[in-house]
Amino acid sequence: MANRKTSEELRSYRWYGVNDLRSFGHRSRTAQMGYHASDYMGKPVIAVVNTWSEINSCHTHFRQRVEEVKRGIWQAGGFPVEMPVMTLAEPFQKPTTMLYRNFLAMETEEILKSYPFDGCVLMGGCDKTTPGLLMGAISMNLPSIFLPAGPMLRGNWNGRTLGSGSDTWKYWAELRAGKITEDEWKGIESGIARSPGHCMTMGTASTMTSAAEALGLTLPGFSSIPAVDSRHAQFASLTGQRIVEMVWTDVKPSDILTAKSFDNAVTTVLAMSGSTNAIVHLVAVARRAGIDLTTARFDELSRITPVIGNLRPSGQYLMEDFFYAGGLRALLLELGDLVDGSQMTVNGSTLGENIAGAEIFNDDVIRKRGNPVVASDGLAVLTGNLAPDGAVIKPAAMEAHLLNHRGRAVVFKDYADMAARIDTEELDVSADSVIVLQHAGPIGAPGMPEWGQLPIPQKLLKQGVRDMVRISDARMSGTSYGACVLHVAPESFVGGPLALVKDGDMIQLDVAARRLHLEVSDEELSARKAAWQPPKLPFERGFGVMHQLHVLQANKGCDFDFLEEPVKTASAQSAPTTHDAPGAKSSEPEIH
Ligand code: FES
Repeated sequence: MANRKTSEELRSYRWYGVNDLRSFGHRSRTAQMGYHASDYMGKPVIAVVNTWSEINSCHTHFRQRVEEVKRGIWQAGGFPVEMPVMTLAEPFQKPTTMLYRNFLAMETEEILKSYPFDGCVLMGGCDKTTPGLLMGAISMNLPSIFLPAGPMLRGNWNGRTLGSGSDTWKYWAELRAGKITEDEWKGIESGIARSPGHCMTMGTASTMTSAAEALGLTLPGFSSIPAVDSRHAQFASLTGQRIVEMVWTDVKPSDILTAKSFDNAVTTVLAMSGSTNAIVHLVAVARRAGIDLTTARFDELSRITPVIGNLRPSGQYLMEDFFYAGGLRALLLELGDLVDGSQMTVNGSTLGENIAGAEIFNDDVIRKRGNPVVASDGLAVLTGNLAPDGAVIKPAAMEAHLLNHRGRAVVFKDYADMAARIDTEELDVSADSVIVLQHAGPIGAPGMPEWGQLPIPQKLLKQGVRDMVRISDARMSGTSYGACVLHVAPESFVGGPLALVKDGDMIQLDVAARRLHLEVSDEELSARKAAWQPPKLPFERGFGVMHQLHVLQANKGCDFDFLEEPVKTASAQSAPTTHDAPGAKSSEPEIH
């Protein structure tokens, strides 16, 4: 890492420090906001990149947390500037926040580039905010530290604990099967989300904030603290203090992120049976750092990583329980040689130093390696003639009898078709059928929405069926469960084999062999492909046009092709990157 900077070496000095007409404008306009030159002159200017909004229910506490971050920045001798960015409120934004993850990444990179910032605090947590913020900050490569929103408290209804998402799907199925009343459903509605914070199951939010900590991008232990715990506020202030020192010592993402730190993040996700979405996001984040993290690497690590986080939807507990049981530091310590403790982190210590002394206080929530929830295979990457570039399944969250299954395809050509026919009596479907949804991928849906937990047909629900093999090129909420094959690549919209499946085709799923096979001859598939017509692109204007022209397939992380860094060779990936790759595309602006 570089030597300590002088004030003149700060990036912001070019805006504030020089004595010319332009800097006069910058200083006079800062005075207009009520700041005296002594508030900022010669100090690190820190962007506090805030995804708060009045429609993001997971980030309601960010209005207060940003003040605590600023307090820390002032205390450490920095100058904080809050920068609001796209909020990506998972429950509200349509058709899906995934359509806009890269928008947030671009916005983050561009504000960091175009304003006088020396470093940044990234405030996120609700699903796509974490990868979006990290992708942008990595590309800009200023000193950066992530502030995880923290999970909300456990849900509660009629004396029962409720988990985000998971219990929504569960009780929705019970309602459709006539097992609970409308009044009971209303009671669940009012009790399932009862505090600020992100989803408290091991959904995408908990998965990605834990991954960010394992990457070394948060203060140690931060990602597990519930949003409303006073220690969350304390850590916010400490985060503000730390970023100022990171600027003086020039600790950038490229000094922290390596192929091994990404292995640590993947291992963490697997040990917690994290969301399948982590595959798409971590691949994209890694590729911004020039690191070629592949879906195959997830599968390799999955085979050797025990699931020791006993967390819903695969396990029993919620993130609040996980925090009381010792949190991520305890889990990482228990993983022992499966994580590389030599990797650097934002606080200037190694991951190993940060987790030393951590304790497990409840070994049913954080299991010992000798007593895992599942011995391995938290996630599995499948290939075969139906998914030449891969597909994903979460074996720990499906009924075991479906791990090796062969069934007849019931095909829906898009979501509207499925919504119209899935619950009809005429649908020719049985518990052994394989439900297939086409046109739900990155371009076709558009935006690869979380439709992958395809509904069980109502007539089968009434017979007691609760899981079936389901296949799509969509994603699935991390709070979902079931034998859902996801992220099929290439997607059906671009003519991937999923587009060629017809009703009645036989499909084999063999998770142990990592195989997804369509029992149709190559000749027949070629004939079907020749007759296949490319559909009309979904967008004619706006950001969607950029998305459909440039988004990469799921196995490449769904980033835009023009935002990736060239990936480095394997030998170059183990050492921290220095000044070369990330940020190389984010050239400094002229200051006029
Ligand atoms: Fe925000 Fe689930 S809705 S994390």
